[in-house]
Amino acid sequence: MRVLGIETSCDETGVAVYDSEHGLLAHALHSQVDLHVDFGGVVPELASRDHVRKLLPLVKKVLADGNSDQKSINGIAFTQGPGLAGALMVGAAFAQSLAFGWNCKSIGVHHMEGHLLAPMLEENAPSPPFIALLVSGGHTQLVQVLDVGDYEILGESLDDAAGEAFDKVAKMLGLPYPGGPAVAALAEQGVPGHYDFPRPMVNRPGLDFSFSGLKTYVLNTVQTELEATKEDTLSEQTKANIALAFQTAVVDTLRIKCLRALKQTGLNTLLLSGGVSANRALRHVMAASAEREHYQVYYPRHEFCTDNGAMIAYAGCIRLLRGESSDMSFSVKPRWPMHTLAANRSAS
Ligand code: KG4
Ligand code: ZN
Repeated sequence: MRVLGIETSCDETGVAVYDSEHGLLAHALHSQVDLHVDFGGVVPELASRDHVRKLLPLVKKVLADGNSDQKSINGIAFTQGPGLAGALMVGAAFAQSLAFGWNCKSIGVHHMEGHLLAPMLEENAPSPPFIALLVSGGHTQLVQVLDVGDYEILGESLDDAAGEAFDKVAKMLGLPYPGGPAVAALAEQGVPGHYDFPRPMVNRPGLDFSFSGLKTYVLNTVQTELEATKEDTLSEQTKANIALAFQTAVVDTLRIKCLRALKQTGLNTLLLSGGVSANRALRHVMAASAEREHYQVYYPRHEFCTDNGAMIAYAGCIRLLRGESSDMSFSVKPRWPMHTLAANRSAS
């Protein structure tokens, strides 16, 4: 089965062709970072309009790159939620219209299921059961995956997602959007141990996360330093030290909770995905932990950590192969809790 995948949930237009026999045939991504950078974050209306502009050229390019055409495509997968309503609507309307015109099946994919399955696009991909840590701008979740589609949320953030905390700390430090890569780059100049920030909720039992207190801790540190130096801005070195202490605290918290989830379930395979899983310090710490504690850790390749069309094509292909498909409505689900995934599907 060959599937065209379309991702438009936020600020990246992602398109890909995945074939169940031959793997990923082509993918293309247009990032809207330049469009939103002056606003310090994603402007939903601008995002929707840019998806309208970019979708058709990207689809044409990916079909050509993947030696595919209308006849060879068996299904169209699109991100149905969660995400920005207008941006999702663009992808859904485009995908459904194309499926209608091409007389093929369509399937609405849960964006986080796409992230969760993204490591499966790699050659060394493990099979379930495993634990997945989803760390993106909107979600921080530990999921027990017994099979594709069989997900149990073991823990999640009670407030900010890890990526959201990176983005907010970036703003506090005067760094540009998107904040995660900017904080990570600055942290490389930081002096280890200059600050020691708290690891939220690690001393309590359970697998939930909370990053909003850590964010406030960063803000208080920024204010204390400004008062101490009587300057209007922090020195570059102080900013770097704060970025490093913040990143270290987030990474350590994620490591502790992942290990706890593995021990609690008796599983020894961990998949990390979502934008924050691109973080080099996180990968470094998790690799050392996996070696020490004897578990396996997997990631998507770098460009599939953040939003992309390949993960949507892949997740859609698996769902279509199972006989699932969507009706022709343009409905999107800007809020779509992952635990309702199975219940929200209509097989045909
Ligand atoms: O998965 P994603 O592209 O979009 C969502 O579904 O949210 O994740 C984007 C998030 C942003 O918060 C971004 O700052 C964060 O991932 N991010 C990173 C890194 N690259 C992206 N956070 C930390 N370190 C990175 N290298
Ligand atoms: Zn995402």
